[in-house]
Order: sequence, then C-alpha cells, then structure tokens
Amino acid sequence: MMKKYLLVCLLTISSIGFIHAGQPDKLIGKNVSVFYPINYNAAAHKPSFALLKEPIAVGDVPGSWDLRPRFYSKDGKTYATLPVAKGTCLYGTGENTGSLLRNGKNVTLWNTDNYEFRKDDGKRLYQSHPWVLGVNSDGTAFGVIADNTWKQRVDLTDSIRFISDGPAFRIIVIKRNSPQEVIKVLAGLVGKMALPPLWSLGYQQCRFSYVPDTRIKSVADTFRIKKLPCDVIWMDIDYMDHFKVFTFDKEKIPDPKGVNDYLHSKGFKSIWMIDPGVKAEKGYFVYDSGSQGNHWVQSKDGKEFNGNVWPGKCAFPDFTRPETRAWWGDLYKDYMAKGVDGVWNDMNEPSVFDGPDGTMPEDNHHRGGGELAADSHLRYHNVYGTLMIRASREGILKTNPDKRPFILSRSGYLGSHRYGATWTGDNSSTEEYMKLSVPMSLNLGLSGQPFSGPDMGGFTKNTTPELFGQWIATDAFFPFMRGHASNETKSKEPWAFGTEIENVSRTALNRRYRLLPYFYTLFREASETGMPVMRPVFFADVKDTTLRKEDQAFLVGNDLLIVPKWAVNPKLPKGIWRTASIVGEHSETDKYQPDVKVRGGAIIPMGKIIQNTTQYKLDSLTLVVVPDKKGEARGRLYEDAGDGFQYKKGDYLISGFTAKQAGTLVKTIIKRESGSWKLGPRYYKVVVITDKGSFSSPWTKNANITVPLIAQNKVN
Ligand code: GLC
Repeated sequence: MMKKYLLVCLLTISSIGFIHAGQPDKLIGKNVSVFYPINYNAAAHKPSFALLKEPIAVGDVPGSWDLRPRFYSKDGKTYATLPVAKGTCLYGTGENTGSLLRNGKNVTLWNTDNYEFRKDDGKRLYQSHPWVLGVNSDGTAFGVIADNTWKQRVDLTDSIRFISDGPAFRIIVIKRNSPQEVIKVLAGLVGKMALPPLWSLGYQQCRFSYVPDTRIKSVADTFRIKKLPCDVIWMDIDYMDHFKVFTFDKEKIPDPKGVNDYLHSKGFKSIWMIDPGVKAEKGYFVYDSGSQGNHWVQSKDGKEFNGNVWPGKCAFPDFTRPETRAWWGDLYKDYMAKGVDGVWNDMNEPSVFDGPDGTMPEDNHHRGGGELAADSHLRYHNVYGTLMIRASREGILKTNPDKRPFILSRSGYLGSHRYGATWTGDNSSTEEYMKLSVPMSLNLGLSGQPFSGPDMGGFTKNTTPELFGQWIATDAFFPFMRGHASNETKSKEPWAFGTEIENVSRTALNRRYRLLPYFYTLFREASETGMPVMRPVFFADVKDTTLRKEDQAFLVGNDLLIVPKWAVNPKLPKGIWRTASIVGEHSETDKYQPDVKVRGGAIIPMGKIIQNTTQYKLDSLTLVVVPDKKGEARGRLYEDAGDGFQYKKGDYLISGFTAKQAGTLVKTIIKRESGSWKLGPRYYKVVVITDKGSFSSPWTKNANITVPLIAQNKVN
C-alpha cells in the first residue's frame, strides 16, 4: 500500500515537472513530436549531433497520438521501444548489410572498420544512423530518430527498440501521409547535403594505390586514349611519406603540384587521402604542431592516447575541441594549394589496429569545448568521423572559399551528409557484394545521406570480367560512382578485362554522362529537399505492397527505373514504364546494361557524350518524352556553373518541359522557370517513346517542338 502511494506521488511529481524539469513531451512541428524519458540527462546528449538545431515546442503532443515510445532501463542499459503494427515495413538504420526491408533485423550502431563486412556478420559497419523509417500498409508513413550518439543497438525483430549503453535518450517521431514526406521532414530536422561540384557526379577511378606519379599519369592518359569518360583520379595512402598525413613521398611523388597540374590539363580532378591518425614522431610537423596545441585525444588518465594505424604509432586529433578542428582545418591550406581538388577522409571510425575491438578504448577522454561537453569516447565514438569531416570541410572552404568542397568519408552518423559524401567500405569482388550495394545505398538514401556508392568492381580479391561488366553497368546509376581495388589485387580499370568488357564499360560510362543533366537536377533537389537521388522501387507506388521488398531494381529520381540484368524476377511498378535507349540501341543490348525505363508522364533531359565534365556544355539537349495515359508529360532541368556558390545568388537556370499528345502529334514546350543563368544557343531534339516505338524530331533551336508520330520519324 505504502509502495503504491509512493509510486503515485513520484508519478505526480514527474508529471508536474519535478523530475522532467522542463522536459515534457512536446509537439515540435506538424505531426512531429519529441518524447523524453523521465531520467533524461540533457547534458549527456545536447547539443544534438543529428539535429540541426534544438527543436522548439509548438504545442503539446495530442492525446490521440498513437506512436509513443516506452522508456525503461534494465541491466545497465537504457531502452526506448515503439510498437510496430502488422504489415508495417521498416527501412533506414543507415549503412546495412542484408535486404532493403529491415523488419526482423538487428544492427549495432558502433562505427567499425569492418573488412569485407565479416565482423559480427556485417551487423555493424562504418556508420551509425539511429533512424527508422516505417511505411504502413496503406502507404502512410512515420519515422523515428533516437537522438543518441552513445553506443547502441537497433532491434527490429518485433518492434522498434533502441538499446543503449549510454544514459536515457529522447525520441523524435514524425508522422506523414507518405514515406517521401517523412524523408523531407527528416531532412528539415537533420539538414541537407550541400550541392556538390558537378565533377563529383562523373566517373572516378581509384586504387590502393596509384604510385609513382608516372603511374597516375598513365592511368589518366589511358582513359583519354580509350575514350572512357572519367572525371577523377584518386590517390590512396602510398603517396604519403611513410603514411604521414599532409606529406608526399619524395621519390614516388616528387612534384605533387605537377601531378595535379597534369591531371587538370587532361580534364581530371584529383582526390587525395587524409586519415585521422597522425604518426607520433617528433620532428614531423603535423605531430609537432598537434602536440604543441595539445590537440590529441587522451586516455582516461589524461595522457596522450597512442594506437597503431598505417603509419605505426599514432596520435588522434580530439575533434570535439573547436581549437583542434580549426588547427586541423588550417592544415589543408598548403595542401590544397598544391592543386588538390577533393579529400578522402578514411579510417575515421576511428580505426585503431591494436585498440580494443579495433578502435579506441571506450573510456578515452575527449575534452570538448564550445558547446560540446567533455566526455568519454563511448559518447563521441560514433561522431568522431563526422567531427573530422566537419573540420576538413570548414578548413577547405576557408582556403578555397569559391569552390564547393568534396569530401568522402568512411565513417558517418545521422546528419554527417551535411559535410561529405560516403562509400560503403571494404567490400569484396563477388556477385553477393555487388547485389548488396543496391540496398546499402538505398537505405543510406532513406537515412539522410543521398551521396553514396560502393567500391565498384569490389575492393578485395580479383574480379572476373563477367562480374566487372555487370557491376560497372549497374553502378553507372548510383549517386557516387567510383571504381576501387585493394593493393593485393590485379588491375581493375575498365580496360583490364579485355575488349568486350572495355566496350561494356564505355557504354555504361557514356550512359551516365549522357544522363548527367538529369542526375545534376536530382542532386539539386536532394540539396533542397533531402529526397535521395537513388530511390527504392516502392516510391513509385507506395500503396502497392508487393513492391516493398524490391531491392534489385531501383529508381533514379522518380522517373528512371533501373532493372539490372542480374535481377531475378524483380517486382516492378504498374503503369507505363518505357525502355529508353540512352546511347543508341545497338550498344545497349549487350548482356550487361540494365534496362532503363522512363516513367509515363516524364521528360528526361540528356546531354551529349563527353569525356569529362569540363566538356559539359548543354548546347544540345535531347528530351526523352514518355506520355502518360492522358498523353501528357513533364520534366525539369537544373543547370549552373557546376562549381562555386554563385547559384545561391540566383545564377542558375531551371527549365520546365511540358508535352501533350493530341492524336498523332506530340507538342513539347520548353520554358524558363527560374534563375538568371544566361543561356547560350541551344539545340533541342525530342524523342517520344510510345507503345508504337520511338519517334524523333530533328535538331532545332525552337522551344516549341512538335513530333508527328509517323513512320518517317521513327527511330530504329
Ligand atoms: C581502407 C579503406 C580502403 C583503402 C585502404 C588503404 O581499407 O577502406 O578504401 O584503400 O584503407 O588506404
């Protein structure tokens, strides 16, 4: 009796705010609520790493709100559980192995260097996204954020359950009429990707490692000689002097500026690797200045922590400190001045070869500063990489204020897409890994990160010609397209597998480059709304529950459906979807190129075949028109200088395309929609695809184009 009385008292006190102390559950937007456990310790969680800013209450959570977390603690762990109705499909949780659909899955959010995804059966990878997207059977949707950086698990076996090693955490729930709307609300909360430079949408060639400089040049030359489009050559760790970051090996790369100048003269950009581990060697300028500034992460006893990575014994910048981020950012000044275009921040989970579980001890000490509290590595581990790329981005932007930074990061956390793109780590050269790359990038896209892709061709082990052909043909439609290979493997450039695969690769790359206007328009959309570039097939019809598991085929934007040749019985959306020829029927009928279908009702802008984006000039534009049931179609094109920030001042152009079929005539109209970008002379060609075949107009400067659907206009 007494016990019961006490409990009632406690509950009363907590509900009048004594224990909650200013943390009652609140509505923070239309159908967006935040829920607090009674023992919420704000100092252990704020400021949020996921959220752009601290949410502002706009009212109380309505009594009718159904999706409420239940918070509790058990055996030293803190829990938040939400019920999942039968028939609800779950997605998200960031970077995962396994299927697109996450129901029944269990992942650990503890950023881990996971070679070939072998550790823990791939149930924890390089990134952590405490985020679940739910799609109800009727197509309405919800999203759940656990605003928690601490080590945790997401268990989706029978509900949505977050289980954390840290203090009790808050939960944000979003409810909307469709998954697309949920994703947009998520982007409003966690931020959007910055518009990347156009060149980063091109094909990129990497290897561990292209050295010496003559090899870099010959790889670049071969792309041009063989007319295989490519925009970027990547330099992996061997360019450094004994793996010391911000240095160049004097023998292998005697003149880094010369290498970059050479690449630039051939229309390439260069990306060079910078890892967080700094060789602990007196006399090395980065270590010396880092020690002088007291920039290193400390062990629990307050001493400099050291652990082994590529260079041997290393110290690690404590990126929770604002002074350390500024120091790190400034290191890029001289480095970028050598003509470096982009930076690859790897090993930033952080990976520590001889550390417990391959990383730092959980009780290592981060000193924080500014708004960040001092705390243990257990709290900051999952955001170590995010803080690193934030520092890199800020430093690069400071030194090159007129260029859009490009940073690729291996580790990440919900919200890290604000600072950089990502790839999915050390996969291997098997069909399984190739197939896995589709749901991996799809779920990253559904978790706020629109710019991702795998090591195309597979990182470890040798690749067969067959696999490489399938992989490059599919990968051409991923947001981030980069071929990579480990140092133990044979060559994996597109010409390394014989003439047939070289031709297959050329077709795949030509397809991507012709579609760049469409891709770039989608990247702009992603930077404005958070909608992913690569989307799951079920986005085409959220009410059609048969599409919910499809993760072989995928969408690029809303209008292109990509069906890989290796897909077995893919589930495709109903309605009109017409196969389009992107670079000419003949070359696309090989057994590798995915079927590219255009949605009825869409107009796709395509450019010319170019060898790199320095040649990107939309002086001739092909519009692929697929009328819907009513004979109508529409599309858009975004264009700007491709780099820099003038577009923010209005120096861009959005064109709108509309088409209408009346009998056998299809009339297409091109209109300026917004932006002050000056357009040079432009030629258009319209290709209309109907159930009777494809019909084309001649090239014309006219912005009103009528295509009669008659035999003489028929193509192929
Ligand atoms: C890591 C990266 C890989 C890189 C290698 C050497 O394994 O994931 O991409 O090639 O380190 O730097």
